[in-house]
Amino acid sequence: MTRIWRFALAWVVCFVGSLALAQPIYKDPTQPVEKRVADLLSRMTLEEKLGQMTQIAVSKLMSDGWGLGPLKAELLERYLVQRGIGAVLSGGGMGPVPNTPRAWAEMTNAIQRVALEKGRLGIPSLYGVDAVHGHNNLVGATLYPHNLGLAATWNPALVEQVARRVGQELRATGTLWNFAPVADLGRDPRWGRFYETFGEDSLLAGSLVAATVRGLQATQVAATLKHFVGYGQPLGGTDRSPAFLAPRSLQEVWLPPFRAGLEAGALTVMANSGSVNGVPVHASRYLLTEVLRGQMGFKGVVISDWNDIDKLVNDHKVAATFADAVALSINAGVDVYMVPMEADRYLQTLKELVEAGRIPRARVDEAAGRVLWLKFQLGLFERPYVEVAEAEKIIEAQRTLAKQAALESITLLENAAFTLPLTNVRTLLVTGPAAADKTMQMGGWSIDWQGKEGAKAPGITLLEGLQKGAPKGVKVAYADPRDARALAATARAADAVVVALGEKPYAESEGNNLSGELPAEQYKLLRDLKALGKPIVLVLFAGRPLVFPPDLWLTPKAILMAYLPGSEAGSALADVLFGRYNPSGRLPFTWPRLFAQVPFTYDRYPDIYPKAEPLYPFGYGLSYTDFAYRLQAARATPNAVEVDVEVRNTGKRAGSDVVQLYTRFPPLGFLAPRERLVGFAKVNLEPGQARSIKLIAPLDRFALVPGDVFSLETPRVLPGRYVLRVGEQTVAVDLR
Ligand code: BGC
Ligand code: BGC
Repeated sequence: MTRIWRFALAWVVCFVGSLALAQPIYKDPTQPVEKRVADLLSRMTLEEKLGQMTQIAVSKLMSDGWGLGPLKAELLERYLVQRGIGAVLSGGGMGPVPNTPRAWAEMTNAIQRVALEKGRLGIPSLYGVDAVHGHNNLVGATLYPHNLGLAATWNPALVEQVARRVGQELRATGTLWNFAPVADLGRDPRWGRFYETFGEDSLLAGSLVAATVRGLQATQVAATLKHFVGYGQPLGGTDRSPAFLAPRSLQEVWLPPFRAGLEAGALTVMANSGSVNGVPVHASRYLLTEVLRGQMGFKGVVISDWNDIDKLVNDHKVAATFADAVALSINAGVDVYMVPMEADRYLQTLKELVEAGRIPRARVDEAAGRVLWLKFQLGLFERPYVEVAEAEKIIEAQRTLAKQAALESITLLENAAFTLPLTNVRTLLVTGPAAADKTMQMGGWSIDWQGKEGAKAPGITLLEGLQKGAPKGVKVAYADPRDARALAATARAADAVVVALGEKPYAESEGNNLSGELPAEQYKLLRDLKALGKPIVLVLFAGRPLVFPPDLWLTPKAILMAYLPGSEAGSALADVLFGRYNPSGRLPFTWPRLFAQVPFTYDRYPDIYPKAEPLYPFGYGLSYTDFAYRLQAARATPNAVEVDVEVRNTGKRAGSDVVQLYTRFPPLGFLAPRERLVGFAKVNLEPGQARSIKLIAPLDRFALVPGDVFSLETPRVLPGRYVLRVGEQTVAVDLR
């Protein structure tokens, strides 16, 4: 052999050898994600791909059923290795026993170890939770206000900080897929999930959805926009009953918060359990594929809701067999089935459907490929495990942010004769069922699904907050609301009464409330207190507006809506009641007088006959000071309408105002909302201070769907004269 040949041979041997030794492309973090996905897919069997399209409840790995306890080696082996199931979740209330930060971290690490070390290709597992107001299944984690309260802050930067903090906690425990934020709108307060929304308006909600996505994903935790789409307006107001939505309202009202979340980069979307216009969303190719992917450009993972392919057979009754339902749903665009208990049946059915050609193999590659893409995006291949000590450290009570969020959410609805803040009070009577019941300040999705265990979460009650936070010389006395004699006796000595009423915690359909009424004994308590003749301050812990019998509504001199404020309820309310914080919350929904008025939103179409006004309008909220506006100029730019407003604090206290910019539409040949929020800003002002701010209203807020009854057009801005309003001031701007 000549030298040159020997050299060539050596080179070939080296090259082939290095090919065999080099790590596969999918394990190489320097390769682009798309290449890693393609490489990994090319190595996978059909069964392995189907496993990635599956998520099971963690209890299956503990008891093969609903029971919680230690993970069992043979169940880990069966589901993660033999079936290759790629994702696990904690349904509301599911977690390790005991429920501690350490146990959560150890649990997700243990799952990961089996997936990586025993799985043929070492594909990491992905763990999902509903961390909808804090890491709320974990005992010890701080709970934040539920979204409805966060929406009342009108403060996207604050909401982003909260989400980032929650993301850090999730990261630290290895739970990297969060089924949040809710991008549904709360437009019907009868609905049991109203409090999970950011309220009725798609701009406000969209801004907060986007803020949540940014905050969570900055920590490499995947956000989930749920529940796509139209879940918020079930007919009759009861959870998951059918929705009927005009295509124009779908486009103008329901899709924008999802679009905002997608623009912020949301990695996953959960399908709506209900139906829209006669088609369950889990079976709607139009919504899940044409609209979500085609119109909106979504590239990530679509997950089903809890057991929802089964619901196509059992509840919606649109499919005769489970196999028909699976084919319908996967072909419509569901990538992952959240199938808490029956994964074996699902995997078997899915395989048969693929083999029979009823689900194309390309569809399987697409769905499984998206899940792998998600896992690469989250850095799971590089950083699959968590540090147990880190989890313990980060979960330990850090409550400043929770308090700030609660403070900014609290909304002052009434304040007759300047009852608040309580500056001239020596003895205060505190009572009411919500004064010392932690579950009522936490709401649903707190430790367990329905929030019955919410008292286990760290927190300070209203009573504790007032006792700790009373200024010197102020005595805080408590009376059990069920003890009329004690109540009367304590009231006699009191200068004012703080009564806390509200709702017991609930989640989903168990929270439907068709009348908006509180339990009768709470109204009775208010009547009894009225008879005692002392000034009453009412604090409401509730996930929705409530109605009061006419004889009672103005009984309290002052009313504070606290929503479901979470851990820091008591300290935040004490600051507001005693005047250390000037309330700045604004209602993110329209407060009806009677539930017979609902659905009743500020952006409804014009009324032919004047309607009774709402009790409190959308955007409403009082302050301990006053603000005045001067609308200075408005101009249209290519992408926005810009408005300059001077805001002045005309009172004697520092405070924050939420400046709200609305538009009215020109006559266009079809109905337009009476008004639409197009911009907002929160400003902090010292007494007497004035500031000029620029509100930028994105042009798409002026867009409407033109056309006749069944128009399927997408919204666009139509030329004409638009009237902008801030407070009572208006200015016109011509758009073309
Ligand atoms: C609910 C889930 C919840 C689970 C808890 C289901 O019925 O839909 O959201 O996590 O129950 O057991
Ligand atoms: C709820 C979802 C939730 C899922 C998992 C369902 O019942 O509708 O919002 O993410 O359960 O707990």
